[in-house]
This record gives sequence, structure tokens and C-alpha cells, in this order.
Amino acid sequence: MTSRETSIEIPLEELRQQRSAKWTAYPPDVIPAWIAQMDFRTAEPIKTALQEIVSQEDFGYPRREGQQPAVVLAQAFSEWMDKRFGWSADPALAVPVSDLAQAKFAAILAFSDPGDGIALQTPCYPPMLEAIRETGRRFIDNPLVDAGEGVTLDIDGLARAIDPGTRMILLCNPHNPTGRVFEEQELEALVALARRHDLVIVSDEIHQDLVYPGRRHMPLAALSAEAAKRTVTITSPAKSFNIPGLRCGVMHFGSQELKDRFHRRIPRRLLGQPGIAGMDAAITAWREGEPWLSQVLARLTEARAQFEAAVGTALPAVRWHAPEATYFAWLDCRDARLPTSAGDFFLKEARVAFSPGESFSPGYRDFVRVNFATSTAILQEIIARMGQALLRFAR
Ligand SMILES: Cc1ncc(COP(=O)(O)O)c(C=O)c1O
Repeated sequence: MTSRETSIEIPLEELRQQRSAKWTAYPPDVIPAWIAQMDFRTAEPIKTALQEIVSQEDFGYPRREGQQPAVVLAQAFSEWMDKRFGWSADPALAVPVSDLAQAKFAAILAFSDPGDGIALQTPCYPPMLEAIRETGRRFIDNPLVDAGEGVTLDIDGLARAIDPGTRMILLCNPHNPTGRVFEEQELEALVALARRHDLVIVSDEIHQDLVYPGRRHMPLAALSAEAAKRTVTITSPAKSFNIPGLRCGVMHFGSQELKDRFHRRIPRRLLGQPGIAGMDAAITAWREGEPWLSQVLARLTEARAQFEAAVGTALPAVRWHAPEATYFAWLDCRDARLPTSAGDFFLKEARVAFSPGESFSPGYRDFVRVNFATSTAILQEIIARMGQALLRFAR
């Protein structure tokens, strides 16, 4: 192991002590590689910020830099977007949220009514589907298309699916589970369609920073004034900095009019406010976390290469498109002709827990999403167990 790896990777014995869902949901003989959380050490500045709250017993009503912490959070968000993507997001149009599930539900309640149509590209991160169903909205399926080179948006299909009762599009970019970073032309076509039908777009960009060399993330709201005025960007440092338990994110409205429309239905107080630990961690991540993030991206690039080397060799009959972003491998196991869903097969036969494909859309039971944000050794073990199970089954 190199010193860089030792500095960032948490060894298996230590991970097994954690109380997180990832490391406690399955029996100890199972290696968990499902929920979106990395097995890496936390950035030092974030740990220091949290330790400071504890050592000062600073648990009162918060104030930061002489103002409301939400104001500092919005500034840190705006600085990060500018630095990383050249997007000048107005901090005055940003609202803190506890998590992005809350942001999605709130946006749906604000910009649509029960029975209205909401379009979503599938397969997709399950809480996006839940947000449509649990608010009584109509789900308009817009499956991604795969012509062999990786998935793309099906703009023509979406144009056909949109009806007079359609009010919104939920977009996930970079895309979970496929790891696609959509091209500007695809996004422009989506915005043109939204304009034609006067739709609000909620763009979940939580995976924005986890993009591999050669690709670039384009915030939807930064595309054009037309895109901005109908886009609610929802994002947080939870994925990039591996702090989802600290619960802090941001909703950014691309225009004052959109923000006012939102608050006419969702008063600010109804959203509450994230706790100070979450806000301090997020502010610190965006202001001081970049060196740590570079280290993580280097490790993820290696892990992606490790997986790429295994697909088709150690893992016969498994196909994938290497992700352009995210730490997910979206594996197509149809050629393996497994006896059960791929998720069940690998759990039972390989004792590795992945996110089952059918949770992203019912037609994907032969797919699994593997979280490869772990140590070289654990990933090697995951690949070996998968390979052995496939081999046993093929005999
Ligand atoms: C697309 C997407 N959005 C949001 C989240 C997390 O959101 P929350 O802040 O609700 O935990 C994830 C986590 O995997 C995700 O993949």
C-alpha cells in the first residue's frame, strides 16, 4: 500500500465498528457496497470544525461571522460554484435545507398540484421516484437510451410524453446510477422543451464534484438566462465530502421570481434549518476541502480503473460503460442469465451487497449498482467474490 492510500482508506476492521447504515445493514460475512457513502477518512478541516463545536460546547443558537449561518453557507456555496464551474450563483437566491430529499419534496409541493405530471429519466435514484409518487403527482417516465456508447437523454421521447398537465422535470446530473455527465447540447434541448411547455426543472447536482478527467460538469442554471429562470438547483457537499449524516444542503433558485413562487407555498420556517454541525461542515468543505477532494478523486480514478480491468475478464458476462462521474459502477448482467435478480444473486452467492437494479426502475433486475469508493483491498475482494460466484454459476 502507498502512503497516500494508507492516509485516506479506512481499514475493514475499523469500518466494521462504524454505526452507519452501510456497515450495519448486513451480517458480517457480507461486504457492503451499496448506499452512497465512501470508506475514506474525513477531510481534516471538517473534523477540526466539528471538534471546535464540541470543545467549546457551542451548542446554542448559532451565529457565524456576525451573521446568520445560513448567510455564510449561501456565500460558501456560491464561492464553490464559481471556483469549480465558473457559475456565479447569487447567494441571496440560496436556501438551506437539511437534505435533498426535503428539497425535492418541497419543490414538488411548491410548483405542482396533485395529479400533475412530473417527468423523470429512468433508471433513477429511488427517492426521486418516491417524491413524485408520495406527493400524489403523476410519474412521466422518460427512459434514458443506450445506443451502445453510454446512456443519453431521450429528448424526442420526452417531447412525446409531455402532456398539458405536465408541470415539472426532475433531472439528476451527473446521473445516479449510470454515472453519465450530460452534454451541454442535451441540456440545452431539455431546457428548450421546458420553455415550450413552461416547466420548472429541479436539477439534483449532488454528484457535481465527482467527475473524472476528460469530462466537465455544467450546472443547468449556468447554461443560459432561460435555463436559470426555471431551474431549482439542489446540491450539497454530502457526497463529495462524505458527510451525508451531517444533513446540510442548498436549494438555489435561478431567479427571484422562482424563489418568491416557492415561498408562496413553502414558508421558510416550514423547512426549519440544518443544525450547526452540518452547516459548519458544509461551509468548511466548500472553503477548505479542495485538497482533500483532489486526493479522493485520484483514489476514485484508480478504483474505476481497477473495476474496468475486471469487467469482461474476472467478471465474464458483465457489461458496463465506465462512469464519467460518481463512484458507481452500473453493471449490466443480462448476458450472465442469472437465476434471480442480479442483486439477490450477488448477495446470496458472493456475499456482497449492492443496490439492486430494480430499485432504480422495475425493468432493471439484471443490473446492480456497485459502490466502488473503498480501499483497493476491499474492492479486490468484492471483484474476486463476484468472479467466483459467476464462475460457479456458469459451470
Ligand atoms: C442523486 C442524489 N441525490 C441526493 C442524494 C442524497 O440526498 P440526501 O441529502 O437526501 O441524503 C443522493 C445520495 O446518494 C443522490 O445520489
